[in-house]
Amino acid sequence: MSLRIKFNLILLLSFVVGYAATSYIAYVMLQENAKEEVLHHANVMMASAMAIREYTIKEIKPLLVRQQMRTFIKQTVPAYAATRNFHKIQKMFSEYSYKEATLNPTNLENRATDFEIGIINFFKANPKIKIKTGERVTPNGRSLYLSKPMRVGSEACLSCHGKPADAPETMKAIYGDKNGFGWKLNQLIGTRIISVPMKVPYQRAYTAFKTFSYSIGAVFLVVLILLNVFLNNIIIVRVKNISTVAHDISLGKKPKKEINTNGHDEISELAKSFNRMRVSLNSAMDMLKGKSNKK
Ligand code: HEC
Repeated sequence: MSLRIKFNLILLLSFVVGYAATSYIAYVMLQENAKEEVLHHANVMMASAMAIREYTIKEIKPLLVRQQMRTFIKQTVPAYAATRNFHKIQKMFSEYSYKEATLNPTNLENRATDFEIGIINFFKANPKIKIKTGERVTPNGRSLYLSKPMRVGSEACLSCHGKPADAPETMKAIYGDKNGFGWKLNQLIGTRIISVPMKVPYQRAYTAFKTFSYSIGAVFLVVLILLNVFLNNIIIVRVKNISTVAHDISLGKKPKKEINTNGHDEISELAKSFNRMRVSLNSAMDMLKGKSNKK
């Protein structure tokens, strides 16, 4: 096997091993980053839903106490404000969603689906867990969900969600007296759940991975070409030169080429030593010839 083939095989092997290892690490890291980015989006969305709830309770509701006596203003209900706000966001980002998924909701649009009932049951079975995240496949592609348990946090909630008789007539005129009642203090009533699409960050991670792979491939190709050029000029051509001359001498012929002794590296040293050996060999041969002529 020639020096060139051996050298290229070692290079190829180290590239394959290095490429596989770096690609794997890069792939895992980029996927992790994408997941963290999606999770961050979900947390921001959840925080914004909570902020709207709080704003509605603290700043909007007190302004409308008197009007509320005449007609029920659902805009003062935090659940309504958060959900409505999200509907507006959905017009621009249709793959994002927020829902206050409830087992026995006032507004039937908030009724929990089978999937959401599964999450509520999970929170029921694990009361200490305050947050659950996971992935699921939706018609819009893979999405990440972040969910939190919803409990009846204060007695005030029961004025509208406790006994139907206690609820404001104006509210019952809109929502009826069948749904969203009978809740108990501290009862787990549902889960607020945010869904964030994973498509875009994952696509970005894939593009970054492709660019990374191509760059590594290109760097390897350049290194391979450069090393081959150097190998050829610095080692192979010069070793071949010495080997051709040595071959001719070994057959007793006068070499066609001279040995190139330029440079200061190991091969130049070898060439110089070889030349010295050749001179010594010639003078030894001459001496031998002289002796045999005298006889
Ligand atoms: C003034 C009456 C009123 C009070 C007080 C009230 N809610 Fe509601 N709540 C409603 C109405 C009405 C809706 C339905 C809004 C809509 O149209 O989406 C609702 C909806 C909800 C929903 C969404 C699911 C569903 O039932 O449609 C949750 C969750 C909820 N309320 C929790 C609470 C909690 C927790 C409290 C106490 C902190 C509370 N509510 C206090 C009237 C009230």
